[in-house]
Amino acid sequence: MQTAALEQRYRARQARGVLRRWLEPPQPFVMNPREPRDYPLGRWNLYVGGAGRTVPGYVNLDLFPMPGVDVAADAHALPFAGERFQRIECDAVLEHVVDPARVVAELVRVLAPGGYLHLVTPFCHPFHEYPKDYRRFTLDGLKLLAPELEVVAEGWRTGPAATLLVFTLEFAKCLLPWRWWRVFAHFTLGWLLFPLRYLDLALLPAARAGRLGNHCYLWLRKAG
Ligand SMILES: C[S@@+](CC[C@H](N)C(=O)[O-])C[C@H]1O[C@@H](n2cnc3c(N)ncnc32)[C@H](O)[C@@H]1O
Repeated sequence: MQTAALEQRYRARQARGVLRRWLEPPQPFVMNPREPRDYPLGRWNLYVGGAGRTVPGYVNLDLFPMPGVDVAADAHALPFAGERFQRIECDAVLEHVVDPARVVAELVRVLAPGGYLHLVTPFCHPFHEYPKDYRRFTLDGLKLLAPELEVVAEGWRTGPAATLLVFTLEFAKCLLPWRWWRVFAHFTLGWLLFPLRYLDLALLPAARAGRLGNHCYLWLRKAG
């Protein structure tokens, strides 16, 4: 996907009318309530890939200068001094970068001693370009990227029911040749099927949920 097309996507999302937002089906997933969220923030915190959203308390870094973005830069070469940030969020970004090992090395470099790095990545999830889509991750694969950090929490953010729903919706759209049919499927199937997402509240605690997990997370801590 070209830069201009990505920028257009963010702007279109922001410009969505009230009616569209009102009719939009609920997300086809629920977040794992056991995923920790309360690791301490510091004076400086970094959010990678937050274009189009506001992230209070964080410096929002993304590739392009778009609404919500504080610093436009490539995460492969962060424009910050070392050991600057107490907490770093990198949520659904690593599948879009050319070299995830280099990006994580940069995140580790700018993380303060004692600071926390939160990585979230898809495992079973449809293709989606921001601006490219290169890969998927398992929890073990994710850990290989930052072996020097201590794993303080790990698990599945969204589980097998989320996987089932996102692939069912995409499969239905694959079958439909016309855009307006796909829009119709998005709204009707989205509203009909979303209650199934709550199955994940029962499935996520089981270890086998990871066999078909949708997104996994790691919380990592730098010594110091
Ligand atoms: C799927 S979106 C993440 C969405 C966001 N974390 C959220 O949960 O709403 C991926 C984001 O990563 C950004 N991105 C992709 N490659 C990047 C890179 N090399 N450096 C910085 N940001 C990048 C994209 O521009 C996009 O905004």
